[in-house]
Amino acid sequence: MCLFEQKNYSFKMSELQKLHIKTPLLRSHELSLINSLNGFERNIFLKLDNCQPSGSFKIRGIGYLIQTHLEKNINLVVSSSGGNAGLAAAYASQQSNLKSLVLTPTTVLPSVVQKLKSYNADVMIYGDVWDETDRKAREICNENPLALYVPPFDHELIWKGNASLIEEIFHQLENLIPDCIVCSVGGGGLILGIIEGLIQTGWINKDIKIIAVETEGADCFNASIKAGLLVSLNEITSIAKSLGAKKCASKLLEYYDQFKGKIESIVVSDTEVVLTMEKFLDDHRYLVEPSCGASLVVAYNIDKYLGKNKFKNVVVEVCGGSSIALENFLDYKKRLIK
Ligand SMILES: Cc1ncc(COP(=O)(O)O)c(C=O)c1O
Repeated sequence: MCLFEQKNYSFKMSELQKLHIKTPLLRSHELSLINSLNGFERNIFLKLDNCQPSGSFKIRGIGYLIQTHLEKNINLVVSSSGGNAGLAAAYASQQSNLKSLVLTPTTVLPSVVQKLKSYNADVMIYGDVWDETDRKAREICNENPLALYVPPFDHELIWKGNASLIEEIFHQLENLIPDCIVCSVGGGGLILGIIEGLIQTGWINKDIKIIAVETEGADCFNASIKAGLLVSLNEITSIAKSLGAKKCASKLLEYYDQFKGKIESIVVSDTEVVLTMEKFLDDHRYLVEPSCGASLVVAYNIDKYLGKNKFKNVVVEVCGGSSIALENFLDYKKRLIK
């Protein structure tokens, strides 16, 4: 758990102040070593967004969306995510002196409900699946013109806010240009922010690949690429529930076509994710969600997933996530590792 969480940041709201923190970019000794064993030296950098105050990268985009509406006389922030997006909305609202209502499906972890309440959010458990929950959230906003609906990923301002992570990496790496950036994909808000950041910094014109990682059973982007059109999954069967958008943002497919060859999609298994979560805990002392573990599977196996003697300098977005505790991890391990 992160140090910064303890601190109550009270920003002056005279201008758009950041609710997220600038997270460390750490060269991982362990991962660099593991991925240099065949003689091709690699540097693996970890962007530690698991240290963000709300527990994940989500505060970057959602914080930005909420702050850009502060002048607009809103009296309530409404989020339909019982996951990290909801936590980010609740945290950003508390920091901005706004009331928040977070609607969550019945599958929400009790620990997350507790955390949401600790940010003074009102919590409404509604619907067995997210689509139902989201419909209710929109209904509430339609009835209250002063309420701000905050979607989990599909909003231009969210992508713009998420872009801050690339701006930070751009400065943190100084003159070094990475060969690729690895990130997890749910609905696409994170990767769209990364693309936005590459555009803003001019890095989009450099030879930097974006590696989009999903898990089997939460792979709507990969399915859409294969089909050549936006595909909606029937159900989410992966343990990586935070990657469980049935359909990704249409903008992501647009960019996939526009920036031909820049984005590579990779799908990993839940079993690989759980094994990797354990390795990462041992090596770096962070317990992350399966959604984040997905990217780490690639980070631990660059030769296998990205090719031998390729990609010397790799940045991995450690997106974090709060829907995990030791008990959940041990349960995944019991179920998936024979
Ligand atoms: C920890 C974590 N990582 C990755 C993602 C995927 O982000 P996106 O839906 O923006 O693609 C999420 C989404 O909730 C998340 O909570």
